[in-house]
Amino acid sequence: TWVLILWAAIAYLIGSVPFGLIVTRAMGLADPRTLGSGNIGATNVLRTGSKLAGASTLILDAAKGAVAVLAARLFAGEDAAQIAALAAFVGHCYPVWLRFTGGKGVATFLGVLLALIWPVGLLTCATWIAAVALSRISSVGALTAAVLSSGWMLLLARPDTLAVGLLMTVLMFWRHRQNLARLRAGTEPRLGQCP
Ligand code: G3P
Repeated sequence: TWVLILWAAIAYLIGSVPFGLIVTRAMGLADPRTLGSGNIGATNVLRTGSKLAGASTLILDAAKGAVAVLAARLFAGEDAAQIAALAAFVGHCYPVWLRFTGGKGVATFLGVLLALIWPVGLLTCATWIAAVALSRISSVGALTAAVLSSGWMLLLARPDTLAVGLLMTVLMFWRHRQNLARLRAGTEPRLGQCP
């Protein structure tokens, strides 16, 4: 089991790299923690006004999750890959570098799913894109995709991935509690707008 613990730690550290902060700093943009929702994720980086920065954050936060899972699988097998998926996601949400105040996990969730079980990852990405396009609200798209990802796992007969998928989904809802409050109040902003 020490191999699993080792890969959990490595994946946590990979997941905790805050690309939203790195991208905005590299591009000379405002710190996303000082605007909009205060989140470090792609949706809030987009509120700096830079689509390139938003897209880069989305891709890099997804890529770090995928890299953690693929590296764990390559060196330690499928169990390690599952642990790495969860650990990278937790690393993004609670990074040690930012005193455990991280993001909401959406991009990293999509990245780890693509690497862990790509058909479910693709269907979940498609769900996310469709739900964001229809609602024009990022959090609605993310939470819809998270819930339906478990459905895709069952449909594709991969219940072995369900536990990790459900844990990430529950944590994602927990990280979105301010968004959920705004959705109930009818004040959640549309994509590109500020709360
Ligand atoms: O990816 C996070 C998104 O679902 C909501 O972001 O900044 O509107 O809280 P934000």
